[in-house]
Amino acid sequence: MKEENRIYPIFDKMLSRKDKESLLNQRSVMIWFTGLSGSGKSTIAIALERELQKRGLLCQILDGDNIRSGINNNLGFSAEDRKENIRRIAEVGKLFVHTGIITIAAFISPNEELREMASDIIGKDDFMEIYVSTPLEECERRDVKGLYARARKGEIKNFTGISAPFEAPKNPTISLDTSKLSLEESINKLLEIILPRIKFNN
Ligand code: ADX
Repeated sequence: MKEENRIYPIFDKMLSRKDKESLLNQRSVMIWFTGLSGSGKSTIAIALERELQKRGLLCQILDGDNIRSGINNNLGFSAEDRKENIRRIAEVGKLFVHTGIITIAAFISPNEELREMASDIIGKDDFMEIYVSTPLEECERRDVKGLYARARKGEIKNFTGISAPFEAPKNPTISLDTSKLSLEESINKLLEIILPRIKFNN
């Protein structure tokens, strides 16, 4: 017998996403941040979550360093591992979205193929792509974690922007350059596009 013949999904018997959305009085969506390390993805994600919570909206953040120290602690930064990283995150993210939760993902997700895979897994209608477009020079100047300096010295291989590629999104829902926008300005721009999508009106 083939493996898949022994799997019996029970999705039809479980409460639906709609049931959960009405319980929470919100519509769920995946807000997917992409951008270089140090571009401001996590900072924006955290501030956004706080703003949404203030409005009575339930969120869950999935973030690079957290996920990589837990569910993905066996993955590195080869192209293959980054793909598996994003695949698992997208699958987990989909579970949150289907629980009615506004899900905020903050991962470099360095190319179109990876982001498209995530969007395919989660579903295009539930996927908002936010490009944190802070230029490399600014990310490197900040070097919050000291990783750019180490990458320049060759101590870290395959470092995005230095020794591994980053491909900018072609059609993001919105771009936020944190070298030009304050955190408050970025959050206001985001709220403007996100709030109408997550308001619940049956
Ligand atoms: S992704 O490319 O697979 O999407 P992810 O967002 O999970 O990356 O992890 C990025 C974080 O891992 C960075 O912010 C940085 O702290 C750390 N990191 C360690 N090594 C690397 C590397 N070679 N390239 C990029 N980030 C790295």
